[in-house]
Amino acid sequence: MSPILLEMKGIAKRFDGVPALDGIDLAIRSGECIGLCGENGAGKSTLMKVLSAVYPHGSWDGEILFDGRPLRARSVRETEAAGIIIIHQELMLVPELSVAENIFLGNEPTLPGGRLDYPAMNRRAEDILRELKLPDVNVVLPVKNYGGGHQQLIEIGKALNKQARLLILDEPSASLTAAEIEVLLEIVRDLKARGVACVYISHKLEEVAAICDTIVVIRDGKHIATTPMREMNVDRIIAQMCGRELNQLYPSLPHTVGEVVMEARHITCRDPDQPRRKKVDDVSFEVRRGEILGIAGLVGAGRTELVTAIFGAYDGPSEGEVWLEGARVDTSSPLKAIRAGFALVPEDRKQHGIVRDLSVGQNITLSVLERFSSLSRIDDSRESREVDTQIRRMGLKTASPALPITALSGGNQQKAVLAKMLLTQPKVLILDEPTRGVDVGAKFEIYKLMLELAAQGIAIIMVSSELAEVLGVSDRVLVMGEGKLRGNFVNQGLTQEMVLAAAIGQGNQHG
Ligand SMILES: Nc1ncnc2c1ncn2[C@@H]1O[C@H](COP(=O)(O)OP(=O)(O)OP(=O)(O)O)[C@@H](O)[C@H]1O
Ligand SMILES: [Mg+2]
Repeated sequence: MSPILLEMKGIAKRFDGVPALDGIDLAIRSGECIGLCGENGAGKSTLMKVLSAVYPHGSWDGEILFDGRPLRARSVRETEAAGIIIIHQELMLVPELSVAENIFLGNEPTLPGGRLDYPAMNRRAEDILRELKLPDVNVVLPVKNYGGGHQQLIEIGKALNKQARLLILDEPSASLTAAEIEVLLEIVRDLKARGVACVYISHKLEEVAAICDTIVVIRDGKHIATTPMREMNVDRIIAQMCGRELNQLYPSLPHTVGEVVMEARHITCRDPDQPRRKKVDDVSFEVRRGEILGIAGLVGAGRTELVTAIFGAYDGPSEGEVWLEGARVDTSSPLKAIRAGFALVPEDRKQHGIVRDLSVGQNITLSVLERFSSLSRIDDSRESREVDTQIRRMGLKTASPALPITALSGGNQQKAVLAKMLLTQPKVLILDEPTRGVDVGAKFEIYKLMLELAAQGIAIIMVSSELAEVLGVSDRVLVMGEGKLRGNFVNQGLTQEMVLAAAIGQGNQHG
């Protein structure tokens, strides 16, 4: 067995007196991949931020040994110099900078005289992107030109550019497709073979099972178990995470699908930079009262563009009509769309979902403040009652609604965004990747909530890259590919293979 590279002993961390980590031990060998598992809010990201000195030495208790020597780093710069590289759960890219500039951010190569060596930077960035199987990304274009999945791979590229001895991947695959995840796992295997140690955090447990040698489960900031993967399987990981067996991944609740509520007609979205290129090409569909409509497709298929255009949030030229309950409605801005009866929970919560400077409670009531205000005075007690109700309903884990939203774990931020949109009492609820970064137990709760809302007659449109989830909860499934609608299936006897075949433009289009 290779030697122990890193040891964390008795790590404890509090936020304003509330314990987030309570005496955690962790040891990693070179070339070993540890799967760090736990429910939303268990403390996974916090533990990794302690390790990488996002929380500097002195702001937590316990001890870290690296190469057998105490590591008392005061900054991420120091841990990086030691070879500890972290890929954060929330993307850290600078949207306006180019892909290459992002990959080299903080360690740009310079020419004699101090100017940046752009040719070298771009060449190396291109090599990295080839390794990530992203050859068609142009390294000189701003990162913001690329969608969530690509951005996530670029973030990974940034880490590959550094000399890692220990690589921490905190939810690296949340917005990747199955094929992209394969590329990622291949890269991790390759790093392992070269002796790099990895900590892999993901709520996609099949992935964890496929890549990790050892599973460490934490719950409520405490260490629960460390087990070799060969003695584990996904069900056992789940049982350790939740402290109970979870015998069902998808809830069932009868709900009747009624008449057509919403119709999208001939929606076309153009690339803001190249208006001749269509990201969505003449897509029409309808959704019925009480129906859950899943939209599947590969990343770049135009799903997010389609739903943001319907909601008036697409930032580029778009055409088409939106009809609600038999009348054409104006959804040319999100505000108009919300007034008309639409709600959208966006894919990228960091950019569009949350307001970082506000508290959990303020974020939740943001979309309906007018309801709590009479003559510009806000009725605080009604507002806080409503917030408490939502927090309970969603099982949202927060020490207090007054905490800044950014203090919540990733999955709990997602629940806050969902709560915010539900308060608007929409007729059509659009969810773009609603369970991204959400743990298995909380996923079940979100599906249950979707089914309850459908049973109340709300039409739900769910964009999701997790095919199992699309098939697990949808009444009907639309499949998009290259901006076009390639399939419209009733979800009976529908298989992942049929959806995939439609997505890549083969097979029977309608079922
Ligand atoms: N800056 C902060 N201020 C206050 N509390 C915090 C802060 N950061 C994290 N917490 C709390 O610490 C606990 C652990 O959070 P952490 O982000 O580590 O969870 P996680 O296991 O990564 O969850 P997820 O799977 O949702 O990403 C949570 O209860 C969270 O609310
Ligand atoms: Mg986390």
